[in-house]
Amino acid sequence: MAVCELKHVTKSYGTGPARVDAVKDISLSIDSGEFTVFKGPSGSGKTTLLNMVGCLDTPTEGDVIVKDRSVKDLSSRALSRLRASTIGFVFQSFNLMPVLTALENVELALQLAGLKEDTREPAAKLLSEVGLEGFERRRPNQLSGGQQQRVAIARALVKHPALIIADEPTANLDTTNGAQVLDIMQALNETHGITFLFSSHDPRMIERGRRIVSLTDGVVSSDERRDSSGGAG
Ligand SMILES: Nc1ncnc2c1ncn2[C@@H]1O[C@H](COP(=O)(O)OP(=O)(O)OP(=O)(O)O)[C@@H](O)[C@H]1O
Ligand SMILES: [Mg+2]
Repeated sequence: MAVCELKHVTKSYGTGPARVDAVKDISLSIDSGEFTVFKGPSGSGKTTLLNMVGCLDTPTEGDVIVKDRSVKDLSSRALSRLRASTIGFVFQSFNLMPVLTALENVELALQLAGLKEDTREPAAKLLSEVGLEGFERRRPNQLSGGQQQRVAIARALVKHPALIIADEPTANLDTTNGAQVLDIMQALNETHGITFLFSSHDPRMIERGRRIVSLTDGVVSSDERRDSSGGAG
């Protein structure tokens, strides 16, 4: 089952001679349970494509289907509701609230998602899911980058998203912390069936993908699935 389907999607910025086609006529389906990475050089269109899969942006041409609904037919309000109920986001720069503890960052997300009663216990449970038991009371500046990114993943889990989109989630991390973040993502994928879609420049992170989509100048230049033993398949 497709979580998201792109149909002949083109995204252009600017007009006339200044026009840049960041993504050109891409058709791609992200199926439930996938663990997919977008790779490609800087400027190849990874972020543009992720933003369209995540309904943060809409195509110039073509269509995006999320949960059997065409984004073309949705008002911006309906689109943000669909996004809020379906998709979690993790960012390169973590985007945590610096004055709040790890626990409070997750509690805030629970409150924003509409949870009115006690948020402490569910927030603590989410932090333990990402291996951060014992770190609940630390502020972001008292955590390593990898730990901060894990708080961000716990925060994304609040919505029980079908899909988590992570644009270069390990770019600000060293190899050890980057690998730990990938471990958590992979565990959530395997145990909870959450679909992950991430981008990376780092060959060590890219090789963790079960499906590797390569972008070159806004087009898909290869799309390869690998078996669970890690070999190309
Ligand atoms: N808001 C914008 N306005 C104009 N051009 C843009 C805009 N956003 C992206 N572009 C252009 O679209 C192309 C694709 O950009 P995109 O950010 O998707 O690449 P990327 O693969 O994510 O690169 P990186 O690895 O550096 O993050 C680039 O040529 C970029 O300059
Ligand atoms: Mg990018």
